[in-house]
Amino acid sequence: MLGFQPPAIGEEEIAAVAETLRSGWLTTGPRAAELEGRMAEYLEAEHVLALASGTAALHLALVALGIGPGDEVITTPITWPATANVIVHTGATPVFVDVLEGDLNIDPALAAAAVTERTKAVLPVDLAGQPADLDPLLALGIPVVEDAAHAAESRYRGRKVGSIADVTCFSLYATKNIAAGEGGLISTNRDDVAQAVLDLRLMRRGDGSLYDIPVPGYKANLSDVLAAIALCQLDKVDRHTEIRHRQFAAYDEAVAELAGITPLARDDRDLHALHLYVVRVDAETAGATRDEYQRALAEENIATSIHFLPVHKLTYYRERFADQPPLPVAERAGDEVLSLPLSPAHSDDDIADVVAALRRVHERFAG
Ligand SMILES: Cc1ncc(COP(=O)(O)O)c(C=O)c1O
Repeated sequence: MLGFQPPAIGEEEIAAVAETLRSGWLTTGPRAAELEGRMAEYLEAEHVLALASGTAALHLALVALGIGPGDEVITTPITWPATANVIVHTGATPVFVDVLEGDLNIDPALAAAAVTERTKAVLPVDLAGQPADLDPLLALGIPVVEDAAHAAESRYRGRKVGSIADVTCFSLYATKNIAAGEGGLISTNRDDVAQAVLDLRLMRRGDGSLYDIPVPGYKANLSDVLAAIALCQLDKVDRHTEIRHRQFAAYDEAVAELAGITPLARDDRDLHALHLYVVRVDAETAGATRDEYQRALAEENIATSIHFLPVHKLTYYRERFADQPPLPVAERAGDEVLSLPLSPAHSDDDIADVVAALRRVHERFAG
C-alpha cells in the first residue's frame, strides 16, 4: 500500500532524539526554547509558545482570550473536529457558517452575518495550506484565532501566516509539514495572550522550590524530545517544499485531463503550504462517487484520506446543536473531497504510480 502521508524522518531526527535523551532533558527544556525562538523568526511573530498539540494550542488560545460559557465563536465546518471541540471545551457555543465553493475556507460574508453581541472570536482554518481570507475577518473587529495546522509555510497577501491574526495555532502532528509526532505552537504579537498562555500551559516555578499559580492551568507543554524532531524538520522545510511543489505539479497536470476531478482552488496572491492535495469528485461527471473512487484506489494499493467531513454533521454536533441550519456548500463538499498521497517521503515514481492508478480508475468509471 502506498501510504497517504508517511512522515519524512531521516537520520538527522534520529540523531537529534538520541542526543536529547543523552542530555537528560525529557520534558520542556532548551530544545523547546530553541524551537520557540526559531519559529518566532520563521513565522515573523513576536511570541511563539510550544505546546503539547495543535488542539491544546487552539484551546489555550481561546482560554487566553477569556472565552467561556455564554460566548459564541464563529468557525468553519470543514475542519478536523478539534477546531470545534475546543470551543465546546471552553463552555462557549460554536457557530458554524458555510464555506466558499473554491477553497472550502470559511466564507467571510457569512461569518460577518453571523456576528451577534455574544460573538467573542472567529476561528478560520487554512484548509490544505490555503490561507483563509483573513482581511475581512480581521475587519470584523473581533479577535481572530487562526487554525493554521496546515499552513506553517503559508503567506496571506505577502504577510506570513502566524503574524497576522490575534493568535495563530499550528500543529506538529505526525502528518504535518513540520512534524514532531505530536505537538503544537501558538504564535501571537499580543503580549497579553502570550503571557496568559505561559500561565496556562504549565505551572511556572518561582525561585528554588517555591511556586504559586495565578490561574488553574493545564499540562500542555512540549517535550524536548519532540522539539528536537521539530527543529530538524524546520531545517528541512524548504527542501520539502520543493518536493511538495513537484508532487502538486504532477497532480495538477494529471487531474486537468480527468473530467469530474477538480482540485481545490489556490489563490495566486497567497503562498500555499502545499500540505494536502484535495480533489473534489463530482459523481455525475466522474462516473462514480468519492467513496467509490476511494475504494477503487485502495484496491490499486493507493491510500487516500478525507479532509474533511463537515463537523456539524458528526453525531455530537448533530445532536447537541440540532437547530443548526443546513450548510449546503460544506455538506456537498463533505461528500466529494478526496486527498491524494502527498509527502516528501514519497518519490516521483510513487506519485507517478498514484497518477497511473487514478487514470485507470477514472477510465473505468467515466469511460
Ligand atoms: C485543521 C486542523 N486543526 C487542528 C488539528 C489538531 O492538531 P493536533 O492533532 O496537533 O492536536 C488538526 C490535525 O491534526 C487539523 O488538521
